[in-house]
This record gives sequence, C-alpha cells and structure tokens, in this order.
Amino acid sequence: MSDKFSTANNKHVLNGRSALVIGGTQGIGMGVAQVLAERGASVVVAGRNLHQDGNRTNYSKEKQLQFSKVDLASNVDIKRFAGTFSDEQFDYIVWSAGIFPSGARRETNEGVELTFQIDYLSKFVGLQLLTPKLKEGGRIVTILSPYVESLWGRFISQFDVDDLEFKKPKRFEETQAHKMNITLSILTDLLIKRLSEQHPTKFFSHVHPGQVGSNLLKNSEVPFQTIKELFAGNQHASIKRTPVEYGEVAVFLLTDEDIGKKSGTFYDSEVKEIDQSEFEKKISKQDVDKIWEYSKRVSNTYVI
Ligand SMILES: NC(=O)c1ccc[n+]([C@@H]2O[C@H](COP(=O)([O-])OP(=O)(O)OC[C@H]3O[C@@H](n4cnc5c(N)ncnc54)[C@H](OP(=O)(O)O)[C@@H]3O)[C@@H](O)[C@H]2O)c1
Repeated sequence: MSDKFSTANNKHVLNGRSALVIGGTQGIGMGVAQVLAERGASVVVAGRNLHQDGNRTNYSKEKQLQFSKVDLASNVDIKRFAGTFSDEQFDYIVWSAGIFPSGARRETNEGVELTFQIDYLSKFVGLQLLTPKLKEGGRIVTILSPYVESLWGRFISQFDVDDLEFKKPKRFEETQAHKMNITLSILTDLLIKRLSEQHPTKFFSHVHPGQVGSNLLKNSEVPFQTIKELFAGNQHASIKRTPVEYGEVAVFLLTDEDIGKKSGTFYDSEVKEIDQSEFEKKISKQDVDKIWEYSKRVSNTYVI
C-alpha cells in the first residue's frame, strides 16, 4: 500500500545513512528496519533474538541489516550494548521495543518492575547512553501508546508519582493494565521532553502506533479478553497498518524537513501533534524532577 508517508519518503534517498532500531527483530520495529534498509540505509537491528518468520533470510541477502543482541530487562546489558557503538555513528535511532502490561506486578533479575523497566527505564538508561552515538542533527523516535488521546485516558487522573513501579497493593485486574500503560506513556514522554532540552542539536519525538498488526499481546502474555478483542482488529478488517506500512510513518518522522525542526513533540499515528497542555499543567516541575531522581536512583550507576 502506498500512502502519503511513503510518497513523501520517496523524496529521500537514504544511501550512506546509518540507523539503529531497538526492538527491530519483530513487529513495528522490524517494519521500520525493513523500510529504512529498502530505502538504502544501513540498519543495526537490536533485540533478544532474530525470529524465524523470514527476516533472518533478509539479513543474509541485504547487507544493510545487521543484528545486535540486547536484553532490555537488564540495565547491565543495556550499558554493555551501548558501549559497542562509536560516538556519532548513527543518523537515526528508533526505539520500538516494548511489552503491553499484563496487569500483574513482575520483577526483573535486577529487582525492577518488568513493564516499568522495558517500557520506560530501559529508555531512560539506553537513550542517555545512546544519544552521544547519534550524529549532530540526528533524530530519535520512540514508539509507544499515547495517554492523552487514549481510550483509557481517564486513568490519567490516577497517575501516581509516588508509585511508579506499581508497588502499592492493587487488585490484579484489567484496568490495572491500562493504568500501567498510561503511566509508562507519561514517563516516556517526560523523558523525551527532558532529553530534547538537554540536547538541543539532536531531535527527539514520541509517536503513537495507532493499530499495527503484530504479536504484541501474545508476546506480552496479556490475559484479558477485552484487550485481546480490541487488538483482534490487528488480524481482521479493522487492521490499520502492517508493520511495513507503519515503518513509512516512522521514516517520515526521521526524514521530513519540517518535522525535523521540532523536538520533544508527541505525535499521533497520522503524525499530528497531540496537545497535552491540559495534562502538563497538572504535573508540577517538582514532580517531573522527582521522577527523574527516582529513575536515576533505580537505574543506579548504569548511565554513567
Ligand atoms: N502493535 C500495536 O498496534 C501497538 C499499539 C499501541 C502501542 N504499541 C507499542 O509499540 C511498541 C512495539 O510494539 P509491537 O507491536 O512491535 O510489539 P512486538 O511485535 O511484540 O515487538 C516487540 C519488540 O520489542 C522487543 N523486546 C521486547 N522485550 C525485550 C527485551 N527484554 N529486550 C530486548 N528487546 C525486547 C522484541 O524483541 P525480541 O523478540 O527480539 O526480544 C520485539 O522486537 C510496544 O511498546 C507496544 O506497546 C503497539
């Protein structure tokens, strides 16, 4: 399918460009990596495993695709992984890796709540370590659900700055999964805003996938039927995009000249800016600083 994004992307030849796609081994990230490689970029695809769904063949055929192993559940491993790249190696970094919260509280071997680690803290650690690996003027796109325009936006009011790792006792229920998802999106967005202020010569954005066909819920072991039904559209008529079609959206964000002049922005799946001003007024500067300090403390020395 050719849509406005692939048409716009046809203007750009990416030969000689270099990209890192974290979570590029399947789903959305794999789509992004394929579009970048087809358009001429050389791409490092990062994840735990190459999957047996055909992309392994592409790796041997297309020299532009290389695999680099990382386990985002481990900050020790993220630090090792980041250390394998040179300063200013990449033009583009895309962070698509993620899981959907199951509503249950699970911990990594490093004692961090699992979804907090995969969907937020890994980015807090990884993006700070990887930003120096991005060239001046380079762009970083993170992919995660929105909160303001989400179906579950009503849970924003329950965002609890004192319980970022979901430690307060709660019932294991579906709404808890949605609350976790909203929290992780808010945290990611605050991170992207802070990084864009700290690095004014590099460009950061956070974008909503909309609905993209992938094995996200199966991979994340989500037990709730209503969430499964909502996502079932992925396999049926209401599917919005395939990973490769969505890859064109991400590549548009990486290459469009006008978008490139903005940093710290949150976009919907049609690349329209999401207005978060009402929510942002409710979260104080002290709370934002508290979240940053908490993230530093939990991730300990990994970013140094
Ligand atoms: N698909 C949608 O419609 C949709 C909608 C809203 C939000 N999202 C968000 O978009 C992001 C990508 O979703 P998706 O549909 O592409 O999911 P997916 O098909 O399940 O792919 C997830 C990716 O994350 C990587 N990953 C997961 N845990 C990892 C770990 N511990 N270490 C390293 N890599 C890890 C996986 O790599 P390995 O398998 O190699 O470990 C895989 O490449 C997620 O944050 C998801 O919540 C997706």
